[in-house]
Amino acid sequence: MSANTIAANRQTDHLTGKDSVWLFGYGSLIYKADFPYIERRPASIAGWTRRFWQGSHDHRGTPEAPGRVVTIIAEAGAICHGMAYLVTPQVFEHLDHREKNGYLRLSSDILFDDGRSVPGLVYIASEDNTAFLGAASELDIARQIAQSSGPSGPNSDYLNHLAAALRELGKSDPHVFAIEQHLAELGKPGAQDAEGKR
Ligand code: SIN
Repeated sequence: MSANTIAANRQTDHLTGKDSVWLFGYGSLIYKADFPYIERRPASIAGWTRRFWQGSHDHRGTPEAPGRVVTIIAEAGAICHGMAYLVTPQVFEHLDHREKNGYLRLSSDILFDDGRSVPGLVYIASEDNTAFLGAASELDIARQIAQSSGPSGPNSDYLNHLAAALRELGKSDPHVFAIEQHLAELGKPGAQDAEGKR
């Protein structure tokens, strides 16, 4: 299955005539900055909530057994906390490839803690991309994450690194922390047996 978004992202005029662009990251882009940046600042975007609803066929799972990674879903009144990076347009060559499994760049205002807001971009995997998995209970999401692994490593590392990064930012995310808690429970000796008997 392919949800490759590289061509669609390259067709946009997001980068035309710009020397630098703010990018908002809310998932692995918070904790894994494998690209050069000019500046990095904790930030948020309004009207979006983080959910482990996107399938990962290329990083944290395989086409046969996709893992689960985060996207953001529109929700009135919600605030999604993350990290903003000021980057050059050239960096999007790398980022478009990294985020190619269903993520499209969208324009969004990015809010800094000091109240300043700047226009920027965010990668969003919307529900019409073929890799979208959609809602499931937090326990079922944890079960899928526990079993998944891909070229970038175990799906559990993605979840645990994200939860740790949010704590480091001093931000709470009940959805992410609940899945983290379920995953920890599943990892306890006997937990899988107990699960199987239910
Ligand atoms: C993001 O981090 O902003 C996008 C999703 C991901 O790469 O995990």
